[in-house]
Parts: sequence; C-alpha cells; structure tokens
Amino acid sequence: MHVITPLLLAFLLLLLLPSTEMKKPGKGRGLRGARHKLRRDRVRSAGRHSRSGFPKLVPQNCSELTDSGEFFVDCQERRLTSIPISNTWSQKPKHLLLAQNRIKVLRDGAFIGYESLISLDLQQNQISLVADGAFVGLTQLTTLLLQHNRLATLSEEALISMPNLRYLRLYDNPWNCVCLMDSLIRTVQVPSNRNLGNHARCAEPVRLKNRKLKHVDPELLCKEPDPVSDPKDKETDPTQPIEPSSIRGKQDATTLCHTYIFPQIRMDCSNRGLTEVPTNIPEDVVHIDLSHNLIRHLKARDFQGARSLRILNLSNNKMEDIDTGSLNGLLHLRELDLSDNSLQFIHYGVLEDLYFLSQLKLGGNPWVCDYSIHYMVYWIHLHPGVRHAGLLCHSPPQHTGESVEEYVHSYNRACPKDRQHNRIDQEETDPELWNTPMEVQGELEEELEPSHLRQPQKYQIFRLS
Ligand SMILES: *[C@@H]1O[C@H](CO)[C@@H](O)[C@H](O)[C@H]1NC(C)=O
Ligand SMILES: *[C@@H]1O[C@H](CO)[C@@H](O)[C@H](O)[C@H]1NC(C)=O
Repeated sequence: MHVITPLLLAFLLLLLLPSTEMKKPGKGRGLRGARHKLRRDRVRSAGRHSRSGFPKLVPQNCSELTDSGEFFVDCQERRLTSIPISNTWSQKPKHLLLAQNRIKVLRDGAFIGYESLISLDLQQNQISLVADGAFVGLTQLTTLLLQHNRLATLSEEALISMPNLRYLRLYDNPWNCVCLMDSLIRTVQVPSNRNLGNHARCAEPVRLKNRKLKHVDPELLCKEPDPVSDPKDKETDPTQPIEPSSIRGKQDATTLCHTYIFPQIRMDCSNRGLTEVPTNIPEDVVHIDLSHNLIRHLKARDFQGARSLRILNLSNNKMEDIDTGSLNGLLHLRELDLSDNSLQFIHYGVLEDLYFLSQLKLGGNPWVCDYSIHYMVYWIHLHPGVRHAGLLCHSPPQHTGESVEEYVHSYNRACPKDRQHNRIDQEETDPELWNTPMEVQGELEEELEPSHLRQPQKYQIFRLS
C-alpha cells in the first residue's frame, strides 16, 4: 500500500500540474485552447481505459527503445500526420522521435501527456503552423528540433512553456522576418541563448533574405517597410546589409547535413557532394558520417571544436592527403573509417591525439609500401588495443597484396642495423623495433616512453615518512 500511495499521488500531481500552470494569468489565448484539449484528451483516455483496461496499442507502428537507461519512442519515417497519443506507450518517454513524417500543424496542447520529454525531434516534416500553446506542459524539454520544415513564423509565446529549452534548431525553414517575428528574433539573440536558432535564415522579405535570425536587427522588423516603388531601396538602403556572398560556396554542416538525436547526436553528411569537411560541426555531435563525398584533403583544424566525436566516417571519398593536425582534439574518437579513399601513406603525427581509438578501417586505399608507410605500422604497434583492417600494400608490384605490417617486418629483417642508424628520421620510426611484439614492447619502454610513463621497476624503494 505505501508503494501505491505515492505513485497515485504522483500521477494525480502530473494530471494537475499542467492545468494549474495554465490557470496562471497572462499566459495567452493558446493556453486556454490547450486546457480544453487536455480535458478532451482526459475524457477520451478515461473512456478507453474503462472499456478495456490498459490496452497496449501501438497503432502508429512506432518502436520503444531504452538506451543508456532512457526511454525513447521512435516514430521516425512512419508517414504520421499527427502526434501519436501519449498513453500509447508502456512508459513515459524521455525522447520522442518524429523526424521524417508528414506533420503539418502543431495544435494547442499537442504534447499533453508528454510532460516527461527531454527531447523532441520534429525535423523533416511539413510543419507550417505552430500554435502558441503547442508545447504546453513540456517543462522539462531541453532539445527541440524543428529544422527542415515549412515554418515562416513562430511566436515566442510558443517557447514560453519550455523554460528549460537549451537547444532549438530552426534552420532550413522559410522564415518571414517581419514584425510578427520580432519577439522570437529578440529571444534567439539573447547572448545566453547561444544554442537557440543558430543558422536559421530569413527567406523573406527580399531585403533580409539569407540574413541569419541571429543577425537581423530587430529594430528594423516592425518599421513600416519602404514603399515598393522606392528605387533606392535596392542599393543604398541601410536595412539591406549584404551578408558575405560566400553563403553558397561555404559548406556549413548544420545546413547541409541532417542531425539526428537518437541514440546519440549524429550528423549524416553522406552523399552531399562535399569537397571539404564542412564548417560548424556542433560540439555535441557524437557521430558524423561524411562518407560518399568528394573530399580530397583533410586540413589542420577541420574538426576543431567537434570534441564529442566518437565515430568519424570518411569512407568513400577521394582523400589523398591528411595534414598533421587535422585530427587534433578528437580525444574521444573510437571509430575512424578511412576506407575506400586514395591514401598512399599517413603523415607522421596524424594519429597522435587519438588516445581512445578502438577501430580503424583502412581498406580500399592504394597504400604504398615504402619507407613512408612505417609510421602507420609504428602507430599500430604502439596502440595494440586498436582493431584495424585493410592495411595492404597496393604498390610497388613486388609487394602488392602483402600486409603492410609484414612488409615492414621483412624490411627490418633485411636492413642492417648500422644502415638504419644513419637515417635522419630514424627516431620516429625505428624499424629495429618491429622484429617481434615482445621486443617492440621492451624497446619502446626503454627508448620511446618518457621516463615518467615507464612501467614501475620491479624493485623500488619507498621512503615511509
Ligand atoms: C510496421 O513495422 C513493420 C516492421 O518494422 C513493417 O514490416 C510494417 O510494414 C510496418 N507497417 C506499417 C503499416 O507501416
Ligand atoms: C561508413 O560508411 C560506410 C558507407 O556508408 C559504411 O559501409 C561503413 O560501415 C561506415 N563505417 C562506420 C565505422 O560506421
């Protein structure tokens, strides 16, 4: 009984909370509508429960998943035209994925019953209207994805019901930057709201086309527009500042790629015809797929700021060259896929920051088995925990098809010691170290490891004070 009572209480509180919230004065028209909706919904669900107990309907064919202890409802790509009813699920979802459906309108109270949501993904729908009370009750929501929709306006009032909102994605919507948008634009420009509305741009009016919402001067929005016939308007009007014309040429990750939040933040930038790594990869992205593009060259700082990255897929590009420093800062990277490119070797130092790498895919590259490939093998030996695949000599002909490691080993066996010691780059890739893993281990400890990183000696004297 004393288990059930608090549960019941909590349930009642949950039901009561939104309605008391809405009774607070001054919250606008939309909320009254939401209250009616709430009442309707409650009546409806009560009716259903009394008829058939707790039916476990999953009418929309969505799937329920638990990842890292958090309950997700995945309704992506289900041709939905409305928000599924909340009491359909076996638990209260923390994350609701509704991307790639056919939702057109978010009505008042659309998410009643979803008060436990932390994230809501509505990207890639056809939403053109969001009622002021659409998000009522979502007091815990931190992430709202509305990119790739058809929104021209959104009132700031719609955001008021989400006091914890920290990430709001609005880009790729045809924003009409007129007076109606004044309060939203002011909100996204508040310095502490640095993750609200990034990269969203005005589509209209013409004088503000392509301006970022973050950069529109809100003072200008509610001014009477200049008469259309004013000929000076086009050229000298100070309200028509030209944004850098590089918009098209610049490859900006947040507009070019699709971002998903399940089960972690993932950016799909594959098949976008990219010739370089796009800029502005958000720092919370965990997985980025850049495969099937035309990237030839990784440059220093290409992934600067992408510090959460764990999976980086660069397969099926045209990569010939990876600058030292281009993978700097990827301290948490686990998987790196470089397969199916045009790589012949990897520069010394390129892999140095990848402390936690566990998988490295290298197949389908024309690896050249000469001295420049030694770094690759050197690095692999130093990182025995990394599973790697595909490191085969492509040329010269006498080594074609041979494993690169085998090539380096046979090179070392064939190459007399004193000759090796004459080489200038000797220290970096001492071939002497490749005879057997055991020797490698022993010699590395002696010669390569800074003394403070060496294994403790067998006998040590501790001074007990
Ligand atoms: C429901 O999901 C199953 C499995 O994913 C699929 O085979 C089936 O076609 C789906 N049905 C509908 C109506 O979408
Ligand atoms: C990278 O993308 C390719 C092609 O889409 C895929 O086959 C491969 O499994 C991906 N690699 C990783 C590590 O996810």
